[in-house]
Amino acid sequence: MHFLGISGSLRRQSLNTAALRACIKLVPPGVTLSLADISAIPLYNEEIREQGLPAPVMTLRDQIMKADAILIATPEYNYSMPGVLKNAIDWASRPPSQPFEGKPIALISASPGGFGGARAQYHLRQVFIYLNGLILNRPEAMISAAHTKFDAQGELTDSATADQLRSVLTGLADWTRLVQAGQSAGQTAAGKVQS
Ligand code: FNR
Repeated sequence: MHFLGISGSLRRQSLNTAALRACIKLVPPGVTLSLADISAIPLYNEEIREQGLPAPVMTLRDQIMKADAILIATPEYNYSMPGVLKNAIDWASRPPSQPFEGKPIALISASPGGFGGARAQYHLRQVFIYLNGLILNRPEAMISAAHTKFDAQGELTDSATADQLRSVLTGLADWTRLVQAGQSAGQTAAGKVQS
């Protein structure tokens, strides 16, 4: 099973990207996690889309389609998600196909503040209602005081946070198996109705 990680922060010292990197080592057996790079995606412009999806958008869409599940780590900017993340989601979501449809997704967030980016996660949930991304409800991971939980090299040093992330990753693997079993049962049932 393969997870695609998407960080909502472009900066090299990002706490959210550091959390995703930590997750690469915390995935349960049988799961791999690779990270997308949204830094080259231009600002959304319908006129650009009319000329064809830019290469970094095509790459992201392809990575989302091929992944069994998505793990998004979002910063909280002014109680919501950063523009770069919303911009990447907006690009990826454009027709003809919509790669988040029926895709299992887990959200995590990290902030130096006390709420750990919770409000950004809840805004993202709202976005994925429209896109029919299947968000894992629980467990949740909001990493508060995140600057105290990673060292200068971005390595996770807090064992409680590692446990939290491990449980989200295990929850996402379980959720993905459940969703995929339901989707293939639905296809089998639909095939029987048609034949
Ligand atoms: C922030 N930050 C922030 N933090 C928070 O907990 N709630 C908030 O509403 C905001 N708002 C906000 C707006 C803007 C424009 C910036 C640049 C920052 C602080 C933010 O959590 C902090 O910079 C994190 O370190 C950003 O995540 P990365 O880049 O470390 O992953």
